[in-house]
Amino acid sequence: MIIAIDGPAASGKGTLSRKLAEHFSLPHLDTGLTFRAVGHALLEAGQPLDDEEIAAAIARKVDLGALDRSVLSAHHIGEAASKVAVMPKVRQALLEAQRHFAAQPGGAILDGRDIGTVVCPDADIKLYVTASAEVRAQRRTDEMLAKGDKADYEQILKDVKLRDERDMNRAEAPLKPAENAHLLDTSKLDIEGAFQRAVSMVESVRT
Ligand code: C5P
Repeated sequence: MIIAIDGPAASGKGTLSRKLAEHFSLPHLDTGLTFRAVGHALLEAGQPLDDEEIAAAIARKVDLGALDRSVLSAHHIGEAASKVAVMPKVRQALLEAQRHFAAQPGGAILDGRDIGTVVCPDADIKLYVTASAEVRAQRRTDEMLAKGDKADYEQILKDVKLRDERDMNRAEAPLKPAENAHLLDTSKLDIEGAFQRAVSMVESVRT
């Protein structure tokens, strides 16, 4: 069974995907981390974020087994990721690795922006997880404060909107619900509520 989960930044799709992976005992790939790994490597090497050849060379070397969420989840790395994600050669290199992951026997769960539309168009079930920009910015703010980081809600809200704009309007694999995706708006749901809805959506297609 392949489960494809897409949605904008801070929609709750990451936590939801991890819980679903555990529940259904499926391997899980957060494809955002693959773009973050490229952004992070460029920042570390002091390379520009807009040179497609350099970024694609790094993308071809991304090791899916070595993606460290604790390092890559930083806010500024997410911004860098969304910049490198507009480049077709970067997407192509990561797409191969992502499809390879999805093809493992027994299936997998992948989450990102273009899983249902591009990476796994034949997924058994597609979820599109969303929430209002304000709710997402508040969640991000709370997360950062809980970690002891500084967080400015207004700035985060601006960044969330900017990232939506970049992710939804790029030419290559823009963020949008696949035609047959099940919509899950988590604005008024806590994680447990969202998880229960998602489980019933998945169960509805299981044979
Ligand atoms: O989901 P996350 O915030 O970790 O993703 C970081 C960035 O990577 C996104 O803003 C998006 O630009 C890019 N991305 C993408 N396609 C995916 C996953 C992430 O373009 N499948």
